[in-house]
Amino acid sequence: MKVRTAVFGAGLMGREHLRALAQVEAAEVVAVFDPAEGAAAKAAAELGVPEAYTDLDELMKAEEPEYVVVASPPLFHAQQSIAAFEAGAHVLCEKPLCMDRAEADAIVAAAKKAGRLFTMGFQIRQSRVDRALKQFIAEGGLGQVYHTRVWGGHIMNYPWGRFHHRREFSFGGVMAATIVHILDAALWVLGCPEPVTVSASCFRRLDKMPDPPINFVGGVEEVTVEDFSHAHVRFADGSSMSIDGNWLMHPTSRGMGFEVLGVLGVAKEGSAIVELERKSEIVPHELAADPDPQDRTVAEHAEFVAAIRGQGEAQVRFAEALAVQRILVGIYESAAQGREVRV
Ligand SMILES: NC(=O)c1ccc[n+]([C@@H]2O[C@H](COP(=O)([O-])OP(=O)(O)OC[C@H]3O[C@@H](n4cnc5c(N)ncnc54)[C@H](O)[C@@H]3O)[C@@H](O)[C@H]2O)c1
Repeated sequence: MKVRTAVFGAGLMGREHLRALAQVEAAEVVAVFDPAEGAAAKAAAELGVPEAYTDLDELMKAEEPEYVVVASPPLFHAQQSIAAFEAGAHVLCEKPLCMDRAEADAIVAAAKKAGRLFTMGFQIRQSRVDRALKQFIAEGGLGQVYHTRVWGGHIMNYPWGRFHHRREFSFGGVMAATIVHILDAALWVLGCPEPVTVSASCFRRLDKMPDPPINFVGGVEEVTVEDFSHAHVRFADGSSMSIDGNWLMHPTSRGMGFEVLGVLGVAKEGSAIVELERKSEIVPHELAADPDPQDRTVAEHAEFVAAIRGQGEAQVRFAEALAVQRILVGIYESAAQGREVRV
């Protein structure tokens, strides 16, 4: 029997999930929910979903989905994920997980209590090269890892929509919405070292620009998130991480990625070549990796649906989701307090 699936939120990402789920043989999308008048009905009509709802409780009672995809603004992630777990569904929650640490703990507690599976929408984890790199590092191929550089953002571009630029809905700006992807991937590849402290600064450049690029719905006066941030994280194993996020990057900036510095060399996200070092020479080591899936969102759902059916495991572990959330919360606390904070 196919896994009865519902999607919460019919915006950009909700629609992307609907498109991807239609290609997953083992899943059947039965309904979409969005409280905005007409949004769910329009997405349902365009993407071939049988039922559209503007009331979440009604959907849960009438459709009894086994799998729920939470693609609403982050303000609603915790309440909707917990409602889904309590109704017996498995959950894929979009990033960022939620608005603070207490909500994150509550999501994990609800999943454990219900005995349901949980994952998040982190498509970089579908990279087969990164999976091979994770294994290479776990086997000691880089020796002791002492530092990881993480960076990313957009070229002069806040995300489109009504929510991403408003902290009360989004939890944060470039760090919570964009860096969260590459931060999760870096922590996962490293084997999830325990974060201990974070020191960060946040800055908003948009409202200081004479001619700001605005492609979201609203004006500069509504913006309450950072568009630039730098953070330093210390881990319990003695290693560290630097994180740079920028939504208003110069056009020639390097896009998004991470590099891992180990005592034996350097590895870069997405690259099959690890640069091992002998004295001053670079000795390239090629990772053996399967080809990437054609569509990472389809692959993400296919893996999770298989896990729901008892074949394989959910991609994102609770400890990993919590580590990412603790670092993000630490970034905003540290920036607000102007000092290093424990996470
Ligand atoms: N994984 C990715 O690559 C990726 C990319 C973009 C967005 N996202 C994430 O997806 C989520 C949605 O972002 P988006 O870009 O689709 O935003 P969006 O602004 O395009 O759409 C948000 C939708 O949520 C609806 N909504 C409002 N309140 C709601 C509620 N209480 N319950 C359900 N829906 C509600 C809105 O009506 C709107 O249709 C966010 O968490 C975002 O960070 C992930």
